Amino acid sequence: MYEEIRATAAAMVETPKGILAADESSPTLTKRFDAHSIVSTEESRRDWREMLFRTPSLSSYVSGVILYDETFKQSTASGVRIPDFLNSLGIIPGIKVDTGAKPLSGRPGELVTEGLDGLGARLERYHAEGARFAKWRAVISIADDKPSAMCVSANAHALARYAKLCQETGIVPIVEPEVLMEGDHSIDRCFAVTSTVLAAVFAELRIFDIDFRGMVLKPSMVTPGTLADPSSVQEVAEASVQCYLDQVPASVAGIALLSGGQPDQVATDHLAAMNKIGLLPWPITFSFGRALQDGPLAAWGGRPENTASAQAALVERARANSAAVV
Ligand code: 13P
Repeated sequence: MYEEIRATAAAMVETPKGILAADESSPTLTKRFDAHSIVSTEESRRDWREMLFRTPSLSSYVSGVILYDETFKQSTASGVRIPDFLNSLGIIPGIKVDTGAKPLSGRPGELVTEGLDGLGARLERYHAEGARFAKWRAVISIADDKPSAMCVSANAHALARYAKLCQETGIVPIVEPEVLMEGDHSIDRCFAVTSTVLAAVFAELRIFDIDFRGMVLKPSMVTPGTLADPSSVQEVAEASVQCYLDQVPASVAGIALLSGGQPDQVATDHLAAMNKIGLLPWPITFSFGRALQDGPLAAWGGRPENTASAQAALVERARANSAAVV
């Protein structure tokens, strides 16, 4: 029953490729556009994303693209549905299906990701329209009194319910528990929190009888907080790999990391250092958003005449990340 999703999951993380996370919600993409004085409309968002996907040789480095619902339903300027267009390039279309992180009642300042209501029917529609994987992001903050057991448990439970619905629909779930970098915490504290979160997530995934070969884990890296003294690239790589080795079953199809706001080259360096450690039970690759798109967005600036330089900037990042995983 799971043969198809196992094959898809393996293709998503197949060396030397990774995933392009282009699934920012419209408000989030508008904020990114605002920083470059780009007007955000349905059309300009489509133009930006179509320009990225048309980048020559993108499919040499990118196995799949995560889309936001708006883009999933759009067509290229010449009238080809975006999921069909990606398929024609040999790139697997994926879809973000959570509806965002919302305040967790009883725990001010903490969040729980919503979107389970009606999810089964939505997944069936997305599958019929070409989606072969999905994404759900849980967000965990670190502070003296965070995360609470309630926050970790609520998010882990939602991730498992989502993953089950995906697998029953023939869709590979990307399970994304993100521990945010904001704060003054040490790398050791991030290690402890990430370990607790991953342990809780995999405990729930086991209860829901998730097929690990048919899923991809998208964790954050183990780093010190943004307000703490930085660690070396090697320290981050070793702490991250140790944490994943402790918590992630060997049968998981692969780990595709988020970049979480790290400068693009730093994220790439971390990825390369993790892969140099070697002898890992799963591929570790990238599923970056900002670390792939920040450079291209600055180069594009909303102007069609900058297409070539924006695409060159994307290829540069995609190629560097691909080289990091071999
Ligand atoms: P970043 O790499 O910018 O963290 O985005 C990845 C992602 O998909 C967040 O959900």
